Amino acid sequence: MGDNRHAPVIAIDGPSASGKGTVARLVADKLGFHFLDSGALYRLVALAALQSKTNLDDTLSIEHITMKINGKFCSGEVWLEGARVTEAIRNEEVSAAASRVAALPGVRQALLQRQRAFRRPPGLVADGRDMGSTVFPDAELKIFLTASPEERARRRYKQLMEKGMRASMITLLQEMRERDARDSARAVAPLQKCEDAIELDTTGLPVEAVVSKLLVLYAKAQKAP
Ligand code: CDP
Repeated sequence: MGDNRHAPVIAIDGPSASGKGTVARLVADKLGFHFLDSGALYRLVALAALQSKTNLDDTLSIEHITMKINGKFCSGEVWLEGARVTEAIRNEEVSAAASRVAALPGVRQALLQRQRAFRRPPGLVADGRDMGSTVFPDAELKIFLTASPEERARRRYKQLMEKGMRASMITLLQEMRERDARDSARAVAPLQKCEDAIELDTTGLPVEAVVSKLLVLYAKAQKAP
């Protein structure tokens, strides 16, 4: 257990659809590291709340759901209370609800230890909004990935189409702006670049180029005293 706290962490934060998820997964694969999709935890809480028709403003009930939630991540699949929800947690209703439950301090606190438990040798790549600032402040490398809102909406549109889900670019862009604003304005662990993070604008950059850059930055971070 003690050793886990020394396993290296690469923290990748940034706004919605900045490419964090794809890039973080590939970097983890290349290095043979574990992977934490922290957004999926907030999405699980949101889905559980929606399924049980809990009012998203009912803070106590949402915190209760978070503490009791039985979620599992296994070979790229996500499970909630024994049911496969890999696609269900990605729809836009859940996205919006996730950003609302994520603003609740009790929810964030309840998920903190769960996230830290992903840190195991040989290392972890963690993707989210507050990986570098709050969950793993001692991460070896902190990256803040961005891209223009239009490019991010295009990426999300493509992702949804590939999954056979319906979407409108205009609605996506609007929802993304609302979610960014809520994530950035909240009092607890807001979306922001922390001082020691390296910012990388991925607008127009192919995924492989971003992955290569991160691997170079990680190699450099390991050599630094
Ligand atoms: O896929 P996308 O980047 O759009 O979202 P996500 O990473 O799955 O996160 C969904 C929502 O959870 C975000 O809009 C945030 O409000 C929240 N979140 C958070 O507050 N902190 C994290 N570490 C990760 C996600």
